[in-house]
Amino acid sequence: MTGSENGMSNQWDSDSYDGGHSFVFEYGEDVVGLLDPEADERILDLGCGTGHLSARIAASGADAVGVDSSAEMITQARESYPDCEFVHADARSFSFEEPFDAVFSNAALHWIPEQDAVLESISAALVPDGRFVAELGGAGNVSAIVDTVREVAADRGYDVTSPWYFPTIGEYTTRIESHSFETQYASLFDRPTELENGSDGLANWLDMFGDSLLAPIPESEQPELISTIEDQLRDDYYQDGVWIADYRRLRIVAANTRG
Ligand code: BEZ
Repeated sequence: MTGSENGMSNQWDSDSYDGGHSFVFEYGEDVVGLLDPEADERILDLGCGTGHLSARIAASGADAVGVDSSAEMITQARESYPDCEFVHADARSFSFEEPFDAVFSNAALHWIPEQDAVLESISAALVPDGRFVAELGGAGNVSAIVDTVREVAADRGYDVTSPWYFPTIGEYTTRIESHSFETQYASLFDRPTELENGSDGLANWLDMFGDSLLAPIPESEQPELISTIEDQLRDDYYQDGVWIADYRRLRIVAANTRG
């Protein structure tokens, strides 16, 4: 899910997303396993991006609807998967007439600071007992990258703050339970993630995802800053020609108790 229409400034390029960051939806296959979609279920994929996981859900026989706040991503998803339904909508305020048996989300929710609005929309979109199955970045996600960006930027007089919401299990389950969900499963785990494009992997990752993180730094200074960040992280996070990002994932399965 891009941030441009949910109060953040990241603008994503759908070709670059698919071409250089395909691990996002490849890892998402495991989350589809947790969802365990069944034939004829109606399932919403929130923050569907270019639609790969919506199509994967539909392949199980479910009726999948993908939603994303990026018009470009939705256009790409419709072209790639014309048999699936895709809707351009904001996660904080979407609504559908027909309720869903499940709401699924992979690697999207951490982009949205207004979690209460999102959880309210999800709960309202589900049938009673409908399930909410999600993976997002959890506490400590990409902290080596964020901390290094902050330090290197501070040395140059810039104050960088993380734009992302990476909750602990306690924080997130308390939050979802305040929106009429019952937590059935929660897990927070390290998932070191190999970035694509060899020695350019970290710079490409920052180019794709780091607009809002790097926003306080003038564009003209970013190449030198990124090069310094690479130098500081290389010993611990660059191995055999591959950058490895310190991802930590939070997985949740919850049931909607609203009757
Ligand atoms: C994530 O999936 O954890 C993530 C991706 C891009 C920026 C920050 C976090």
